[in-house]
Amino acid sequence: MRLSLLSSPALLLVSLLRCFVYVKGTPLKTRGNTLRKPTHGAVASESAVCSGIGGDILRAGGNAADAIVATVLCVGTVDAHHSGIGGGGFALVRSPKGKYKMIDFRETAPRASNETMFVTQTNSTASTIGGLSVGVPGELRGLESIHKMYGRLPWKRLFQPAIKLAKEGFVIQGQLAGAIASNAAFILNDTEFSSVYAPNGTLLKQGSVAHRPAYAKTLTAVANHGADEFYCKDRWIARASVKAARHSYLQPGIITLEDWEGYKVEIREPASIHYKGLKLTSTVAPSSGTVVLGALNILSGYDLSYTTDPTTGLVVDSNLTAHKLVESFKFAYGQRTVLGDPKFVKNVTKLELEFMEPQMGAKIRAVMPSNSTGPPSLYDPTGFEIKQTPGTSQIVAADESGLVISLTTTVNLYFGSHIMVHETGVILNDEMDDFSSPDSSNAFGYVATPANYIQPGKRPLSSISPVIAEDEHGRFVFANGAAGGSRIITANIQTLRHYLDHNYTAQQAVNAPRVHDQIFPQVTTVEYTSVSQNVTGYNNATVASLASLGHNISWVAPGVSVAAVIGHRDGVFDPAADPRVPNSGHVVIQC
Ligand code: DON
Repeated sequence: MRLSLLSSPALLLVSLLRCFVYVKGTPLKTRGNTLRKPTHGAVASESAVCSGIGGDILRAGGNAADAIVATVLCVGTVDAHHSGIGGGGFALVRSPKGKYKMIDFRETAPRASNETMFVTQTNSTASTIGGLSVGVPGELRGLESIHKMYGRLPWKRLFQPAIKLAKEGFVIQGQLAGAIASNAAFILNDTEFSSVYAPNGTLLKQGSVAHRPAYAKTLTAVANHGADEFYCKDRWIARASVKAARHSYLQPGIITLEDWEGYKVEIREPASIHYKGLKLTSTVAPSSGTVVLGALNILSGYDLSYTTDPTTGLVVDSNLTAHKLVESFKFAYGQRTVLGDPKFVKNVTKLELEFMEPQMGAKIRAVMPSNSTGPPSLYDPTGFEIKQTPGTSQIVAADESGLVISLTTTVNLYFGSHIMVHETGVILNDEMDDFSSPDSSNAFGYVATPANYIQPGKRPLSSISPVIAEDEHGRFVFANGAAGGSRIITANIQTLRHYLDHNYTAQQAVNAPRVHDQIFPQVTTVEYTSVSQNVTGYNNATVASLASLGHNISWVAPGVSVAAVIGHRDGVFDPAADPRVPNSGHVVIQC
């Protein structure tokens, strides 16, 4: 079925009725046969409910852009600990004609901000909690751009499912329940947060139903009047938001109505490399897509060897390949230390291009130690470190026209700045903490990188780094993305390699255990087995081999990064959400 070719509404209806939705969790009687039929579209996210809403939008004649807007709005409603319209992020879009665009809706620093604004603060949590930590949010301008450039259904229609959930209630799922529990004291003490998450003075738990009437009102206003309703300085949402940030009891902020109204998305040209016969495209600074491509550029020149995992029977990296993978991470994180917002750091685009050149890959392979791991200075000559944080959401959608969108959005740490605006129910981000401050470690003990120092209007460097792969005929093959702070980068490298190099299904690629190393701290983390999360841990023999080469191994529980991907083989969409988050889910629309 090709929706784009349908002209009559009756024909459209008949065709749509032939579609049905496969939702993760539904038993597949004939997986081989059923899923080999061409599929109309797919959505994956860390919320099964929200992916289902994206699927409904596809079934109702919407395309991947419509589906992603509705899914993102839903996720920001039911999982507000990590995302929402008070945050921002990046989307990588592949148009039906195979043209790529990056939509940068990252937050910006207020005009009154400056390089040392956190260094001079006596309040050590000023960059993460309260008004100073808030960047001007970009999510709604980002969704507006996606919808204007690619959408098909009316804007208002895409808000209805999220409004309904916010108004009528939604069931609290495991990750949010954990975030509520770990922020118990704060939530119980804060009037706005307790009104949603502890309405009767007791914290809501997994399975409880929460309501967000103020957020429903805000979404309704934006659905009816557009994103300007959120951003225009003479409207109630902007006024209430700026007032809440400036007068926060946690820490007064500096954001102004002019900052708020002045927010603009940046439409950027993404970056591409060739990797084992495929074209890989990702986002550029101030995101970290070129860090992912930089690592893959190094690996692309190796004739990588593989073996079979004795536990799972799946193809996995040989010991030597695993070592090269970890080494490529470290060189790529070293490259990342010079990145920042290209509008403010003039040579960033040039450096990114250099990192992706085949000669750069060859140069790094020439110095990569094959039977040991090197000292940090080998990978990171500047001596800077990378940060990590929790609180992000990954959503990916694709349709049969060839439109594919991978979007990652975040309020940064759990519940962002801890400011929930009374009138709007919006949780404001604390993305200012993604900037560096001179001579000062941040809350996680990381050292600063000058390219990422705060400047008015600048965007903080992000680890967000979605990738879309297509084959030599220009056919869509794979799209990924992840949450997980600094681990986003290594999660994206690995889900991609599992799908492309190891020939896994999308679900196998997402479930596979992840290894991570970002130079500092000097530790290589490997995930161990978690039966409840459906993750079989990293192969013991490979880990022993890494340890013997000097990698400082630390086993960790699965869940430090969370991915959502869509594969596409033989005309069939193969989406997968991450079992590391309970109640994540994907849908495939079949016709
Ligand atoms: O943009 C960034 O890199 C961070 N604000 C992302 C934080 C994050 O992914 C937390 N994830 N669980």
